[in-house]
Amino acid sequence: MSYFLRCLAGLLVFSTAAHADTQALDQQRADLERFQVIAHRGASGQAPESTLPALVRAHRSDADYLELDIQLSADGHLVAFHDRELQRTSNGEGQVNDFTLEALQQLDTGRWFNAAYPDKADDSFVGLPILTLEEVFERFGHSARYYLETKAPGQNPGLESALVDMLERFEMISGGRVIVQSFSRESLLTLRELEADLPLVQLLWLPADDTPLNLEALGEITDYALGVGVNFRADDQTVLTENFIESAQTHGLKVHVYTVNEQEDMQQLIDWGADGLFTDYPERLLELVN
Ligand code: G3P
Ligand code: CA
Repeated sequence: MSYFLRCLAGLLVFSTAAHADTQALDQQRADLERFQVIAHRGASGQAPESTLPALVRAHRSDADYLELDIQLSADGHLVAFHDRELQRTSNGEGQVNDFTLEALQQLDTGRWFNAAYPDKADDSFVGLPILTLEEVFERFGHSARYYLETKAPGQNPGLESALVDMLERFEMISGGRVIVQSFSRESLLTLRELEADLPLVQLLWLPADDTPLNLEALGEITDYALGVGVNFRADDQTVLTENFIESAQTHGLKVHVYTVNEQEDMQQLIDWGADGLFTDYPERLLELVN
């Protein structure tokens, strides 16, 4: 083949791949225009949070996204674990990022669930290990979408670059398979610097006091994020309002609300026009939206 033809063939392969990437990202954006069911730490109302059984249940239920909190082990591996401390949801003690992956993988992250929720206990939950993000991607691949939180980025230096490397390795960004969320604006801006195409969501916490909401600040979020993740309740008070949802949407932001487990609340938020909900019970939400 002549040099010219080789160049042309290379160009065609490149442009076809680039087109496929654009299509996948466009499809993800299009899908975000409809209501999204986000399985919070998997179907964590039915199985121990962030474990394989919780993810399998959520995936089977056809949730739009599997939500997981991501931290770094002491030796730099990405692990799915919510709390900074190990003790609530494992038989370990201390901070996640003080332990190597090998040490973390010795822990049991399922037994606590059986003790806390005897009515949902299952012998198969005993001994469930902490999952690495790599294991999650190997298990579900592009058959799922992922809504990953950079957890405690101040205590996990290097989390963003390790995460982007892993997402690129599994073609999760170009494949339209991932959103990354964080309470830390800095963490999101770091991610934006690393990968311009990565869809981002700014997490917000509305407090249960009379602090007036700074709705104008929502405009700044539009510069780097496609939406906000916001709490429905704080200290058992409803803090989110229909007006907040409308204001955010007026700024061009999607509004995904966490963490909503009762169908009455789910319906209220659907009626208010929320763009999606994080829930420990994706099947309950799917009953309402399908
Ligand atoms: O990521 C949305 C929601 O999960 C934020 O709260 O504490 O459950 O990570 P948290
Ligand atoms: Ca989270």
